[in-house]
Amino acid sequence: MSEPIVDTDRVHVLDHPLVQHKMAILRRTETGTKQFRELIRELALFEGYEATRDFPLEDIEVTTPLETTSAKQIAGKKVAIVPILRAGLGMVDGLLELLPSARVGHIGMFRDPKTKEPQPYYCKLPGDIESRTVLLVDPMLATGGSANAALDYLRKAGVKDIRFLVIDAAPEGVNAVLDHDSDVRIYATSLDRQLNENAYILPGLGDAGDRIFGTF
Ligand code: PRP
Ligand code: URA
Repeated sequence: MSEPIVDTDRVHVLDHPLVQHKMAILRRTETGTKQFRELIRELALFEGYEATRDFPLEDIEVTTPLETTSAKQIAGKKVAIVPILRAGLGMVDGLLELLPSARVGHIGMFRDPKTKEPQPYYCKLPGDIESRTVLLVDPMLATGGSANAALDYLRKAGVKDIRFLVIDAAPEGVNAVLDHDSDVRIYATSLDRQLNENAYILPGLGDAGDRIFGTF
């Protein structure tokens, strides 16, 4: 069994009943590619809702068909969604439904099956990334190697506010990310038990990229 999470203030595990219900379907071996992809999109949307909870508001006036009243709007927050390729792509559409004006950057990274080390192969970020709140997204947080390499890219590019949205996290990966980056916040729809000897998450859901894209 792995160590407990040390800095729980920076880790948000969504416990909403709908999230838990969808996670159960997602994990099942018999869930096919189409449904798996839909569930990842929906869960990303729920996470986006949580991860933007502290976005600042400003007062505005609106006129309803009956009268003029005070209301609130998001105070000009600039956001970039940055998926870690390839599995992170499955979370982008759900988040764009919530934040249609967000820019999208891409970080390409795959985990070497032998060493488990991340192998970067692509990075394209919006030119003004340093002034944006970044929602870094990847369905799986296993050892934390890929996440930490992506965080290094973003910090080097000057990004200050990063929220890392994952579907399934292992405690080993969560602790590795919290240790590596003193500011990032992690949002997960499940915090699982541990990694196996191949650094796969238990009980997990298998290989997220293969299940999203049907590449078995
Ligand atoms: C998976 C997953 C993460 C990484 C997690 O990607 O989507 O990016 O592994 O593992 P880690 O925390 O130990 O780094 P994978 O390398 O399989 O690439 P893919 O998205 O192209 O399938
Ligand atoms: N990557 C995955 O897709 N699944 C795991 O369990 C670990 C890494």
